[in-house]
Amino acid sequence: MPSIKVALLGFGTVGEGIYRILNERKEEIRQETGYAIDIVSILVRDTAKERLATPGIKITDDIQEILSNSDIDFIFEAIVGEEPAYSYLTEAIEKGFHIITANKTMFAKHGSALLKHAKVRDVHLGYEATTAGGVPIIRTVTSLLPADRVRRVRGILNGTSNFILTKMREAGIPFNAALHEAQVLGYAEADPTDDISGKDAFRKLMILSALAFGSQPNWRDVPVVGIDAVTIEDVADAFKNQLRYRHVADISIDEKGALHGSVGPVLIGTDHPLYGVDGVDNAIIVETDHLGALTLVGPGAGMYPTASAMVGDFLQMIGKRERVLVNN
Ligand code: NAP
Ligand code: HSE
Repeated sequence: MPSIKVALLGFGTVGEGIYRILNERKEEIRQETGYAIDIVSILVRDTAKERLATPGIKITDDIQEILSNSDIDFIFEAIVGEEPAYSYLTEAIEKGFHIITANKTMFAKHGSALLKHAKVRDVHLGYEATTAGGVPIIRTVTSLLPADRVRRVRGILNGTSNFILTKMREAGIPFNAALHEAQVLGYAEADPTDDISGKDAFRKLMILSALAFGSQPNWRDVPVVGIDAVTIEDVADAFKNQLRYRHVADISIDEKGALHGSVGPVLIGTDHPLYGVDGVDNAIIVETDHLGALTLVGPGAGMYPTASAMVGDFLQMIGKRERVLVNN
């Protein structure tokens, strides 16, 4: 049976999730695709760190051990920050590796360049996991285009923020305690500043803007406010009035083709489509010319939702064997 060799860049929450899913579903993937999946290398920062045992897999802190291995077909990238991730992926694409990334910090800024590069080099580049965790928003918007035209995309794009706001309202837990819980559960970034300042939601909004509208607004023109200014008293007052705080990222295109974006906490009432979206869930409302409004809701962060989005990209790339239904 032919095999596909893969490398993982990063073995934290997301990287470990990819490893677990590929192992847990090994046999099903083999039957569905006709390929045996072989994880050959894992890149980390600190090879001495204690981590889940991965027998037979080379753990390295040297990217060149991976990029110089021409047996490897696919690279899953789940490291942190713009660099060195962008340089690694640029070199990987140039060398002909197929890529799947979860790194929204890097992709919001360099996604367009990487996608163009991937097209030139004729390699796949999947980025479903960069935006809204396990919610298949990239696939959905991609499949709506070009038969329809997207007018507006808005929603909750940061699971940590929504989790914190929900905990403050439901359990009366203070901000810092709720944030700590989000960190323990693997929802928050290693440095959660970008989660609570709104920057993480902003970057996801920019990824969606590039996909839906073919461009991004000038980043400086988009006001970005986080949930860090929302107090437990604010949340309790809103609750008394049957209102809820949601951290909403919003981008729309006007008749002249200008883009208008904003990111920040919004007070909403019971009739709002985001009212019931609690916990780590994200929700995205896509408004188009022909479809009207479409809403997707699901887990926006965490090991399995994120890793499952990446494995989903991977399986789509390698294709499924056509199933033949036989009538007895
Ligand atoms: P994490 O738990 O902090 O793990 C990061 C991993 O990357 C660690 O294994 C770390 O190595 C490795 N790493 C970091 N910088 C590196 C470098 N310069 N060179 C080599 N290895 C490096 O982070 P995570 O939560 O898995 O997130 C990974 C990526 O996915 C991030 O870009 C994040 O924004 C994105 N993401 C996360 C989620 C989520 O729910 N957690 C969801 C969607 C997207 P060591 O183990 O040696 O420290
Ligand atoms: N820290 C991010 C969040 C992870 O909470 O939404 C998913 O991108």
